[in-house]
Amino acid sequence: MRPATKLYEVLYVSTIMPTCPITVVSDISARSRAWNTAHHVTGLLIFDGMRFCQQIEGQQKEVMALMERISTDTRHANVTIFHHGQLAERRFKSFSLAFTNVDDIEVLNRLEQLDGQPAVDAFEALVATLDLAR
Ligand SMILES: Cc1cc2nc3c(=O)[nH]c(=O)nc-3n(C[C@H](O)[C@H](O)[C@H](O)COP(=O)(O)O)c2cc1C
Repeated sequence: MRPATKLYEVLYVSTIMPTCPITVVSDISARSRAWNTAHHVTGLLIFDGMRFCQQIEGQQKEVMALMERISTDTRHANVTIFHHGQLAERRFKSFSLAFTNVDDIEVLNRLEQLDGQPAVDAFEALVATLDLAR
């Protein structure tokens, strides 16, 4: 059994590189699910056609190492972390990486302008509208 370790989460917004084909999103999701499952990382990836918003959660060491790789990934830019810290309980227990599209580009645009708790609140409000079976 895995030892009980403190949970950690990171939330960020980024912008897809204009040179990237949209199919990059399904490549990322497929590959990420395998890695995340193997490393007990769960989370959510939202895409609006231009911006990504991702939440990842798991053991702090794993989450930080993954975030390091994500932030240097050349398929997106302007990676802006708007919250990171300890988490009492996983938000997405059953998803190695849930993926969803949002049609309204204003949603992630607004989220990108926020920081800290207001940003987390806006993220939670957005997730509540997504009808995810968590
Ligand atoms: C928006 C975005 C989200 C990503 N999310 C994950 C993820 O949750 N898990 C993962 O393993 N890789 C994710 N990646 C891919 C990583 O950036 C990286 O390509 C992958 O971990 C392989 O890294 P490596 O080639 O250094 O081994 C994501 C990439 C992007 C652009």
